[in-house]
Amino acid sequence: MQFDILTLFPEMFQGPLSTGLFQRADSRGLVAVNLHNIRDHTHDRHHTVDDYPYGGGAGMVLKPEPIFETVESLQSEMPSEQAATLPIILLTPQGRLFSQPIAEELSRHPQIVLICGRYEGIDERVREYLVTDEISIGDYVLGGGELAAMVIIDAVIRLLPGVLGSEKSSLDESHATGLLEYPQYTRPPVYRDWPVPEVLLSGNHAHIAEWRREQAIIRTLKRRPEMLERARLDNKEERLIERLKQPR
Ligand code: ADE
Repeated sequence: MQFDILTLFPEMFQGPLSTGLFQRADSRGLVAVNLHNIRDHTHDRHHTVDDYPYGGGAGMVLKPEPIFETVESLQSEMPSEQAATLPIILLTPQGRLFSQPIAEELSRHPQIVLICGRYEGIDERVREYLVTDEISIGDYVLGGGELAAMVIIDAVIRLLPGVLGSEKSSLDESHATGLLEYPQYTRPPVYRDWPVPEVLLSGNHAHIAEWRREQAIIRTLKRRPEMLERARLDNKEERLIERLKQPR
């Protein structure tokens, strides 16, 4: 999968792109990230990327030309049918809220473009005539879209086949099932006075699976009850929730 990132600060990506999961995916040839400095697509002596807002007001606004030109130069190098369906995503607090289903949706594309906004804003014509999607990583304002792009890349690449050690290890985790993940334990079986739940040592895989599912439901009900409305639960699980909701 290929990510093309438009940014004014390509150096911000060096750390995350040279460590951990990304490095592993990169060395296996499963991902490629191309960093495009928006400033390289300016034509004036000062390499101007921003300007004062029409109508006045605080801060500067990113100019449309360098952003359009960077994306168009990228598209000119790919087959036209691929260019026509290329997701061009603007990172902005005004976008749709990033989530596991959106990470899954993005992971099905062979290539995506991420545009990192900066300053007070971006010329609205970029939104209207260039981007195909706008994504926010949360209801807070960052200094720019770079960290948001890194969050998205991280969440997406771990879904690509062959990136995680075990193919199954992303299937059970929080949000993938619509529930928060069940509690995990490792050795020692008793640490200080705190034992590992006995069922996990039983070797009975059916009991373990049932316990984990129940724990995931209990945890989700406690911490993120709104997620249960969309989770797929069977009758027995619905009854468990009703019971857990009863005042003790
Ligand atoms: N740029 C600034 N804040 C952002 C956010 N919350 N999500 C995505 N991009 C942003």
